[in-house]
Formats: sequence, structure tokens, C-alpha cells
Amino acid sequence: MYRYDEFDAQFVAERVKQFRGQVARRLSGELTDDQFKPLRLMNGLYLQLHAYMLRVAVPYGTLSGKQMRMLAHIARKYDKGYGHFTTRQNIQYNWPRLVDVPDLLDDLASVEMHAIQTSGNCVRNVTADHFAGAAKDEIEDPRPLAEIIRQWSSLHPEFVFLARKFKIAVGGDKADRAALQWHDMAVEIVRNAQGRTGYKVIAGGGMGRIPYIAYVMKEFVEREDILAYLEAVLRVYNQDSRRDNIHKQRIKILINTIGPEEFRRRAEREFDEIKKNGSLQLPQEELARITAYFAPPQFESVADEMPKGDAAFSNWVKTNVHAHRAPGYTIATITLKSIGAVPGDASADQMDAIADLMDRYSLDEIRVSHEQNLVLPHVRKKDLPAIHARLLALGLATPNAGLITDIIACPGLDYCDLANARSIPVAQDIARKFADLDRQHEIGELKIKISGCINACGHHHAGHIGILGVDKKGVEFYQLQLGGSGAEDASIGDILGPAFGEHEIADAVERVVNIYLKERAPGERFLDTYRRIGMAKFKTAAYEKAMA
Ligand code: HEM
Ligand code: SF4
Repeated sequence: MYRYDEFDAQFVAERVKQFRGQVARRLSGELTDDQFKPLRLMNGLYLQLHAYMLRVAVPYGTLSGKQMRMLAHIARKYDKGYGHFTTRQNIQYNWPRLVDVPDLLDDLASVEMHAIQTSGNCVRNVTADHFAGAAKDEIEDPRPLAEIIRQWSSLHPEFVFLARKFKIAVGGDKADRAALQWHDMAVEIVRNAQGRTGYKVIAGGGMGRIPYIAYVMKEFVEREDILAYLEAVLRVYNQDSRRDNIHKQRIKILINTIGPEEFRRRAEREFDEIKKNGSLQLPQEELARITAYFAPPQFESVADEMPKGDAAFSNWVKTNVHAHRAPGYTIATITLKSIGAVPGDASADQMDAIADLMDRYSLDEIRVSHEQNLVLPHVRKKDLPAIHARLLALGLATPNAGLITDIIACPGLDYCDLANARSIPVAQDIARKFADLDRQHEIGELKIKISGCINACGHHHAGHIGILGVDKKGVEFYQLQLGGSGAEDASIGDILGPAFGEHEIADAVERVVNIYLKERAPGERFLDTYRRIGMAKFKTAAYEKAMA
């Protein structure tokens, strides 16, 4: 894991000190709310419907046990006893009091964490595949590059006042577990025909009111040139983006306005310019220095058999356990989606207990996934029964990773001042409807994603079934979308038709799922069936009145 050097530690500590002064001036009335707003946003502090909300970065989704315990402590001391893990590998606290936030940030700094650049028009928390360093088919661990990008983009003088927020993700595997194609810019680690490792850069993806899948900007960038190329893309965006209409200021709009060809040409021109002066060359030694922080742990030589257990254990292994690169090891997903729970929420007690599991069974590491789950990356197969038993006791052993109740949902109208509708109760209704485990396993992979408004924080455009909250004269309604994907086969969901009422939406989802079960060919996922047969049958079924 990366450890702060002296510069990082001092920088974070100074930021807390400055913010303490800003908060004091706000509390004394010296600063108005409007004057304080840009200052708090620089430190990830939002003002929501009921309270302040602090968004804390978990760079590339990696946490140590010590950090997890601190997140639990913060939830207990400054919040209402829980935290909310988000799709961009952050954790959000929904109830901190302004007066406490400087102390909270001090506590975070003591475990090398902060909330800087988790808000505002800058490069946000750099995310990565949550199986990084553990996945069986990975070309290379994406986190060293993600850390280098984090350092390059933190307080970069040219990019702290971008036209709009800018989200970067890095993946090291053909399987895309980081929603790369939905990012403003993303890097995929690739091997070229000569067997050399380098980087494919894509840009222009995004959710929000106008969704786009990213375009390939450059198929292969040499290692030493990667920062120069990323800087070139950002520079074109920074210089050429509109700044007169907040809805048209993301890079996706620029690329789709001038066309990907023209954008590539402009990026290439900047790239040549940057390379000429040579200042952004990434030296081999620097890459090696950062990579050393992420050196693979010493895996023991242990038995490679999967232990046997009861039906609950077997079901959990089937969905929540994944292939690891080291023999005898495996990756285990802890879904924060037990039936009826708030997707992504974990209580302070659960976080502490998970930290104990990390210590004991996962080489002191955990990952936050973009599906709002947690992942133990390095687990010995022989320890799985003990881990499962402990998770059962904690209410965290729901065997539903990737299934219909593993739902992504944004905070929606329960917290968010931009929301049209609530997302959390809809997620809970659907999860309850499909609570039966045999049925979930029978349905197989099906990703439901729910947003409370068109900003799309809940990734509804990328849901196999996407749900969007809309407001009709002050009443909450929900639009269905089918056929989206956030994985390597990325696609934008198609809108089904008129929205459903709050009490109709879960039934409509069920009718859609029933059509899939009727029409599917052997081995087909929901998404495959939809792609094969199209919208018509799903639409007819969805709008049929529910049978009495
Ligand atoms: C409750 C406070 C939140 C506020 C005020 C907020 C605000 C926004 C806004 C305004 C956008 C649209 C940006 C645009 O189209 O330019 C957005 C996008 C997004 N937010 Fe949030 N958000 C919140 C919470 C969350 C949470 C909890 C998550 C994760 C679960 C999240 C993840 C995202 C993602 C993934 C996007 C889409 C990025 C894209 O457009 O490419 N946000 N958010
Ligand atoms: S999608 Fe809308 S309602 Fe949901 S968190 Fe984002 S801004 Fe709020």
C-alpha cells in the first residue's frame, strides 16, 4: 500500500489547519454561506437536505485495517453510527456537524486519508479495479499508475479550475470492473503485438443527463509518455470546453461536439508539444518506486481446494468468491446489500468487525468496489468457512454479488437536495420482492442501478435494468431503462416508456424479469436476452396491469 511521504503528510495536515480557520470564520459569521461554499467544497464538504455531507476519498479503493477502524470511529463519533460507500470508491458521512469537521479531518489525516478534491471542478478521486493485484487474468496491478495519476493531478495548477468535475479510472484487466468506459478519462493497461506493456487511453464517457460511452483516444501509449498524454487530453479539455452552460461543460460534450477525430488531433498536437519539453516523462525509476509500495504480498503455499460447507456457504461461494492469481487463494466480496438494507451503508460496528477480518484473513487489506460493496482481496481458500461464519453473524453474508438484489442506489431524496425521488426505498422494495435466494440464483446475473435524478449518481444508464426517479408535479415517479452495462461490454440503457408510480415500480421490474425467464436461451444473462430480442416483449409486459 502507498504510504505518505513527508510532503504528503505535511500538505494534508496544513490543509486541515487552513480549513479549521475557515470553519471558525464561518461559525463566527465572518464568512457568509456563499463565501464559505467554495472553501468547503475544496475539502469535500457538501450541504445536503438535512445536514452537511463529507465525502472522503479512498484512493483506488484500497484501505488498511487501521484506516477502516478510523472510518468506524468517525462514524461513531461524528455521525449517526454509519457511513455510505459510494460507486467512486469514496465513503460519505451524512451527518457531521460543521464545528466537528476539522477534528474529523485531523483524525482522517492521522491514517493518511483526506477529503481533498472529492468535490468541485477538479480531478476527483482516482479509482481502480477493486480486484487490483489479486485478479487472476490481470496484466498488471493498476494501482501504481493510479497513485502516480493521483500525485500528478492533486493541486495541479492548470487543472484545479476545470470547466467541470473530471473522473479518472484505471484498470489492468480485459474484464472491466471499474466502469472505465463511463469515465471522463480512463487508462487500461494493455500489451501490444510485440508483448510490450503500455496504456490504452479512452475519454469522453459520462453519465448525467446526456450519457456517453468513452472513445478510444490512443490505443497504445508508452509507459514513459503516459502523464504527457493524459496532460494533453486534459489540456485540450481545459482550453476548449464551453464554460457558459453547466450542463455542457463535461469533456463528453466537447468530444461529441467537435468529434473524436478532431479531439484526438488536438490532443496529439499538445502531446507533441509536451513531449518536446520533456518535463512530463515518467522515469522508469519513479514507476518502480511507486510500484514497490504495491508489491504483491508473500502468498503462502497452501492447499488449493475449495472447502465444503452447507447450502448457505456453497451459495455464498458461488456468487461472492472469485478467482485469485495465487494458488490456494481467492477474492471474497462482502456485499453491503443485505435484504432491506441501504445499499452501500455499513455501521461502525460492522466496519470494526470487518477490520478484524482483514487483519486475520486478508493480509490487512480491503477494497471498496464501484458496486458499493467491500472486497477482501487475498483470502486463503481454507479460511473461507470461518470468514463466512463471521459474516453471517454480522449480517453481511448475503450471497448476492452480481444478482438482482445487489443494487446500486444513490442517496436520492432521503438526503440529496438535487433529487426528484427517493432511490433507497425503491432498492429496498425490489430487494424484498426478490429476497428468495433460489429465485435470485435462478435469475442469475442482473444489475439494477437506481438514481434519484438525471445526474445519474446511481449509474442508471449502465444498469441491465436502470431506474430513474422523476418528478411529476411534486409526486415521485420512476422511469425504467433496459440494456445498459457498466462492464467491458458497456452500453447505454434504452428508455422503456412512461414512468411508473412509487408503488408500481417493483412490480414492473418483476414483470420484466419474468419475460426474461420465459425468453432466455440456455446460459443467457438478462442483458444478453435483451440484446437478442429487443424491447417489445419487455415493454408489453411491463405495462400490463399486475394480475390481482
Ligand atoms: C448526496 C450528494 C450528491 C450530490 C449533490 C451529487 C451530485 C452530482 C451531480 C450534480 C452529478 C452530475 C454531474 C454532471 O452531469 O456533470 C453527479 C454525478 C455522479 N455522481 Fe453524484 N452526487 C451525490 C452523491 C453521490 C453518491 C452517493 C454517489 C455514489 C453512490 C455518486 C456518484 C456519482 C456518479 C458515479 C456520477 C456520474 C458521473 C458522470 O456523470 O460521469 N454521487 N453527482
Ligand atoms: S442522482 Fe441525483 S438524487 Fe441521486 S445523489 Fe445524484 S444528484 Fe442526488
